[in-house]
Amino acid sequence: MKKYRAGIVGVGFVGKIHLETVRRLGCVEVVAIADKFLAKEVAEQWGVPNYFEDYKEMIDTMDLDMVHVCTPNSSHYEVSMYALEHGVNVIQEKPMALNVQQAEEMRDKAREKGLVAAVNFHNRFYPMTNHLMNIIKDGELGNIFSVTGEYTQDWLLYDTDYSWRLESSISGDTRCVADIGSHWMDLAEFVTGLKITQVFADFQTIHPYHKKPKRNVLAFEEKKDGEEEYELVPIDTEDNACVMFRFNNGAKGCAFFSQVIAGKSVDIDLLIGGYKKSANWNSAAVNSLTIGNRDSFNEVLEKGINTVHPETKPLIAYPFGHMEGFVDAFKQCFREVYESIDNKDKKYNYATFDDGVHEMILCDRIFQSSKEQRWIDVEK
Ligand SMILES: NC(=O)c1ccc[n+]([C@@H]2O[C@H](COP(=O)([O-])OP(=O)(O)OC[C@H]3O[C@@H](n4cnc5c(N)ncnc54)[C@H](O)[C@@H]3O)[C@@H](O)[C@H]2O)c1
Repeated sequence: MKKYRAGIVGVGFVGKIHLETVRRLGCVEVVAIADKFLAKEVAEQWGVPNYFEDYKEMIDTMDLDMVHVCTPNSSHYEVSMYALEHGVNVIQEKPMALNVQQAEEMRDKAREKGLVAAVNFHNRFYPMTNHLMNIIKDGELGNIFSVTGEYTQDWLLYDTDYSWRLESSISGDTRCVADIGSHWMDLAEFVTGLKITQVFADFQTIHPYHKKPKRNVLAFEEKKDGEEEYELVPIDTEDNACVMFRFNNGAKGCAFFSQVIAGKSVDIDLLIGGYKKSANWNSAAVNSLTIGNRDSFNEVLEKGINTVHPETKPLIAYPFGHMEGFVDAFKQCFREVYESIDNKDKKYNYATFDDGVHEMILCDRIFQSSKEQRWIDVEK
């Protein structure tokens, strides 16, 4: 079997998940990692044979088939463009870039080079979200008239919580929308097959300042004991976003995105209203899906090779009753992306750079809507 040579840039929170899950494919060897601070430590801990501080040196010397871009948002553009320019396929973390213009240039570069270019919107790869997509496509819910839900977290609730995501120069104009709202919107559009055409948003920031420790802080890391030395940093991005949507078939929707709701470590909820049935998927129970009926009992479907849509079966790696969660969704996404390197003609479900650009446009329009307090067209 051919082994693809992968390099990972950025091995903080999500880069280590890429490292672990891509190895589970069997057809990929992580030959190198690059990180400004953690390269040596992570390479030794995870048995990666080569490590670099500078991603350019890694791309120049390691003859890679794929670069996984897992750095903070502000460096996605430069790392991806460098990889593509040097003929290397890319799996890019979301959001795709800092702004629409960067994302469009990245998409154009990938097209020009004819390379695989994917964005890791992994929520598409849970068996039950894929099943939902397939039964909606088959018309089981009837025409869709509403798409509602939330993506809520609590890890930035206190003014002592700190992450690069709080700095708009690193994270982008929107924070909560780009960071987690983009996942929800991508999932909503993927499962329904609909496109968001108009948005109306209202943002809220609950702390005008956060206390930034005077040391390198990784995403989601545990607090250090004792007193921290810190500086006060003004916050110009949203903690909460209330967003209304109009879809291309006339359906309406709304969602609440937040990083400050106590007790919600990760809560993604998607409720779809159809003329025949409704469907509800929640990340706390990734392996199940509730189908709502008006004139009969509701059905709770559990992931299983005999219970899912025939086209969903390839996403099931373990027998009935064995959970497949967050990291398995990454693995299934990467499986498709790597397969597409040498088999370009098949239809894949992963998000491409076109989808990544679309999400950047949605973030941009939502930001504009919140500033101007009016409906904004997605396509101008
Ligand atoms: N798909 C998902 O569910 C998911 C989950 C978490 C994060 N993410 C995305 O992944 C990206 C990284 O987030 P994170 O939470 O892992 O952040 P993090 O802060 O934990 O890790 C980022 C790492 O990148 C390194 N780095 C920064 N700039 C670099 C550069 N120029 N060259 C090499 N290394 C560099 C840092 O040293 C750090 O180790 C973000 O874009 C984020 O939105 C996606």
